[in-house]
Amino acid sequence: MCGIVGYIGTHKARPILINGLKKLEYRGYDSAGIATIENNNIVCIKNKGRVKELENIDKVNSLGGTIGIAHTRWATHGKPSSTNAHPHLDNSKTFAVVHNGIIENYSELRKFLTDAGYSFLSQTDTEVIPNLIHYYYLKEDEKNTDKLACAVRKATLDLKGSYAISVLCSLEPDKIIVARKDSPLVIGVNDTEKYIASDIPAILEYTNNIYILNDGDLAKLTTDSITFYDNDFKIITKVPEVITWDAKAADKNGYEDFMLKEVYEQPTAIRETIGIRLSHGKKCDFSDINISKEYLSNISSIYIIACGTAMHAGLAVKPIFERLVSVPVIVDIASEFRYREPLINEKTLIICISQSGETADTIAALKNAKAMGCKTIAISNVIGSSITREADFTIYTHAGPEIAVASTKAYTSQITILSLLAIYFAEVLGLEENEMLQNLKNEILELPSKVSIALENTDIIKAFAKRIYKEKDLFFIGRGTDYAAALEASLKLKEISYIHSDAYQSGELKHGPIALIEDDVTVVGIITDRRLVEKSVSNLQEVITRGAKTLVVTNQNIDEKLFTNIVRIPQVHPLLSPVVSIIPLQLLSYYVAKEKGLDVDKPRNLAKSVTVE
Ligand code: G6P
Repeated sequence: MCGIVGYIGTHKARPILINGLKKLEYRGYDSAGIATIENNNIVCIKNKGRVKELENIDKVNSLGGTIGIAHTRWATHGKPSSTNAHPHLDNSKTFAVVHNGIIENYSELRKFLTDAGYSFLSQTDTEVIPNLIHYYYLKEDEKNTDKLACAVRKATLDLKGSYAISVLCSLEPDKIIVARKDSPLVIGVNDTEKYIASDIPAILEYTNNIYILNDGDLAKLTTDSITFYDNDFKIITKVPEVITWDAKAADKNGYEDFMLKEVYEQPTAIRETIGIRLSHGKKCDFSDINISKEYLSNISSIYIIACGTAMHAGLAVKPIFERLVSVPVIVDIASEFRYREPLINEKTLIICISQSGETADTIAALKNAKAMGCKTIAISNVIGSSITREADFTIYTHAGPEIAVASTKAYTSQITILSLLAIYFAEVLGLEENEMLQNLKNEILELPSKVSIALENTDIIKAFAKRIYKEKDLFFIGRGTDYAAALEASLKLKEISYIHSDAYQSGELKHGPIALIEDDVTVVGIITDRRLVEKSVSNLQEVITRGAKTLVVTNQNIDEKLFTNIVRIPQVHPLLSPVVSIIPLQLLSYYVAKEKGLDVDKPRNLAKSVTVE
């Protein structure tokens, strides 16, 4: 949830580090800091607030070093403050460390170090790391030419929990040491320049050649070389991946906010995600995952596990899996699943969805399921992310980097890829001649153009946002997959507009929530299933009778006279409809947040990727 950037090369480090931090601010943004080495001394500047505020500090502007590390923080241990911000230094100011993750045994380590004469300035778990490195560095043999890397490895062996760290040392001013466990870290290279980042978009404008560190890896970077070590400190060889994301994908590209840009990127994101998996008249292609007819015929259930928006994508595809694969599908919240004793075994297929691939709860849930003998599939948007290394199989969405905290294009891409997977399973099971399957495949190929049409219809949404932005409560209602979309619409509104909202199955309103409906309360209804139009219209009339104002998102033939605000979206199969019906509601939350003057991309208290429990 925090962001790390590092640089070693021939240019000034400061602009590269600040630029990288700005790209990573979506991972955390309550304080930031930077450290470089000048004249064999560490110069470290930290500040509470956004990266922009750090950048405006005079001392930051005059930093001249060509080696440095930087960090943007989202507080876990210790409130946001310049003291708690990273980098953290050891007592002798010889070592500087930036850290993502959580050191679970930091109290124990603090005690050990305090007994050894060390003292602490901050309330963070991180501050033990530079001091531990110092402790081990002093114990290294003077003749050891790899003292710094050895000391860092020894220190990391003492750490319990998760970490991605970058370390500077004023006694070895030509090196950066990095290491990771359960928190992502990558190294980008071009000629003499080396870049470190917790997330690829931070360094994409400098290079596409990226080394992805595995858990337990440690690396020593100089301007001329990188040496990789495994967990046992043996030197290993690594090959860089060539990342095909366009550097512009990590820029706003003329849009006011990343969220708006990402909302409008959805037709492309969906098209790219369909990619080579499906073309007209062909079967779906998931030959890269080894799922046989025999295995599928024997599974007793599918669990879809995820958090937040990714979990809502799971709810949206539950009906298509149940319909096509004919087994119960349980959609579970990762943080709940991991602490229950779910009834799973080798006959349970587990699908974990995570845009970032770094969500701690989802990864832990996947590991638990694997330990209980289940086959696991990860759906992720980030190549080489942690979850992809844990799962038996990985299927990527190709939405491009998603920067805004509120997930949009990842959600529609996840539903798309999972719907294709459900169809693939049905085909493996021998249902390829099924007419509904053919329809669904044709409809999936049409999703990008239908989403484009839905994106054009913004006038009613903008006007409605102006009417409701001061409200305190909102209700979203729908049936079946419309209810799944309602849940996601409600989450979007909460996340970026800070308006309380609830989503209900339309038929459930009468069992309690209708007591909350009074004059001028806002109810948003989604109606995309022809079989349920009458019932859904009646539910909305019931709230209108009680004084509610309504917005209806529909592709059904609903009489204009019944509702004042109707947003028309293209016809789409009900099993796929959240991909299209969510579009105006993503825009609704966006325009409400804009009316309120809020920072849409960086909502309070939230982080893009939650790598802690
Ligand atoms: C955080 C974000 C949500 C996101 C969730 C799951 O809570 O704020 O927007 O849906 O994590 O993220 P993932 O990367 O696992 O899909």
